[in-house]
Amino acid sequence: MNQPRSVLQKEHVAVTFGTPVSTYLWPDSDAVNAALASLILQKETADRGLTRSNVGGWHSQTDLFLWDADCVRTLKDRVASCALDMTRLVTTGEGQRKINLQMDCWANVSRRGHYNSVHDHAGTTWSGVYYVSGGKPDNDDPLNGKLELLDPRIGVNVFGGEEGLFGGRYFVEPLPGLMVIFPSWLKHMVHPFSGSGERISISFNVRVQFSATDDIARYSPTKADIG
Ligand SMILES: [Fe+2]
Repeated sequence: MNQPRSVLQKEHVAVTFGTPVSTYLWPDSDAVNAALASLILQKETADRGLTRSNVGGWHSQTDLFLWDADCVRTLKDRVASCALDMTRLVTTGEGQRKINLQMDCWANVSRRGHYNSVHDHAGTTWSGVYYVSGGKPDNDDPLNGKLELLDPRIGVNVFGGEEGLFGGRYFVEPLPGLMVIFPSWLKHMVHPFSGSGERISISFNVRVQFSATDDIARYSPTKADIG
């Protein structure tokens, strides 16, 4: 039997309902990461922190962007920069408008056995993480301390057919200096950390609002208690 004639080109196929996820490794981050790690560990000794999705570990209050330190200001600029880029990249650029960002941020310190259960960040637009320190992970667990973003398409794992045809799993290696941003409705988790030392990360939420003026970004930290 002859092969059926091929007719479809790439332009005939729409990838609908895609989920934008950015990963960006900030260069020259050693000094700022060292300062952030020192500040976060110092804060940990003075505050019991919160319990949210974290199972074990320390979750700071959500006011990290209000901590008075140069490294925090650098981080805040980095989050704003990536959140603005993502917003512009996934929305139409028609007309001029102002993008307002409201940002909340908190630190996470995980030690051996600590992890984050499956959750999302309701009530905001973008969520993400910045990795400060990876600790000293054991080498015998390929999922060690990794962030996993879960496929949001209902049924894809039930009706997907051959493995890998539609679905797949998306893992993020916690590299110091790496910033990840994804839609806040996207469910995610963090696999248990096994290793010595601390795995330190910083999570954030960004709420985006548009207004019809010039395209100038403005952002402000808030104290919303989410995440
Ligand atoms: Fe999260």
